[in-house]
Amino acid sequence: MAFQRVGILSIGEMGYHWARLLIEHGVEVLTCSTGRSEVTRKRAENAGARSVSLRRLVSEADLVAAIVVPSAAGRVASQVGRALAKVGRKDCLYLDANAISPMTAAAVGEILSPAQAGFVDGCIIGSATKLSKAVVYVSGARAEELCALRDSGFSVEVLGPKAGQASAFKIVYAGLTKGLQGLLTELLLGARKFDLLQEILRRYEQSFPGLVGAAGRSIASLPVHAGRRAEEMRELRATFRHHGLKAVIAPATQKILEQIAALDCGKPSETGAREGELLETLELFFERGLLQEKD
Ligand SMILES: NC(=O)c1ccc[n+]([C@@H]2O[C@H](COP(=O)([O-])OP(=O)(O)OC[C@H]3O[C@@H](n4cnc5c(N)ncnc54)[C@H](OP(=O)(O)O)[C@@H]3O)[C@@H](O)[C@H]2O)c1
Repeated sequence: MAFQRVGILSIGEMGYHWARLLIEHGVEVLTCSTGRSEVTRKRAENAGARSVSLRRLVSEADLVAAIVVPSAAGRVASQVGRALAKVGRKDCLYLDANAISPMTAAAVGEILSPAQAGFVDGCIIGSATKLSKAVVYVSGARAEELCALRDSGFSVEVLGPKAGQASAFKIVYAGLTKGLQGLLTELLLGARKFDLLQEILRRYEQSFPGLVGAAGRSIASLPVHAGRRAEEMRELRATFRHHGLKAVIAPATQKILEQIAALDCGKPSETGAREGELLETLELFFERGLLQEKD
């Protein structure tokens, strides 16, 4: 049976598109904007989400979905755990849909266990702006319950009964998409410096049809999303380290994404829309001196 009321923490780009899809399917969306930025509050209003206190949200929602940034996953779970304890609710279904390591997912499960919440480990693969093509992967003891989202227009795949499976899956996937963004940004900035940008783009297209088009769209959104994507690479690195593997590409990707985030040149959208083109984004990075050796 479809969820009637979903609580989303918070209404970022992905949260906005979740809220819109749910509302389109007749689901009420709650959020808690307390302490959030102006742009997140505006996005919540624009999406049609009802902003309530956290206690009210955890009391009323059939599902609480944490769609924040990897570094906030634990903090949000703690706040929800405390709110659940205060209102005395025990059966709350909680989805963490962030790109976090399986260790962070385990910590989120631990945080929520005193409140006896049903923790589902999850991740989203696909762009927020093309949510109809995205897939929500879930794992854990209560993962099957998330299939109810299918009635609200979502694609949902259950990966298995163990929390951590969905996180591990996303981490390995994110390594490819963010790795390609980092590598292409570096190489195309080089080509721009050597005045060979159009020529190399044509050559890449001949050799790898579609690759630059797909990765280029994600590069265009780096001014807004590089910081969050760098956090994903940190989670990847920690996951590999936990299993005795030393990631080499992910730390390099993390570094370039952090340098882009430090340029602070992106303006998040109040409607969850994406703007920007590959070439103008590269030009912006070039003008701001990205990857330029300091004298
Ligand atoms: N965007 C995509 O296309 C996409 C694709 C696949 C998966 N995802 C996943 O979706 C998640 C969100 O991504 P996004 O693109 O929506 O990010 P985003 O646009 O940067 O939004 C992040 C949201 O989290 C909020 N937030 C940050 N710290 C918080 C905290 N401590 N407590 C409560 N809320 C907090 C932010 O609020 P403030 O504005 O107040 O900081 C903002 O509303 C990520 O984990 C990512 O892996 C996104």
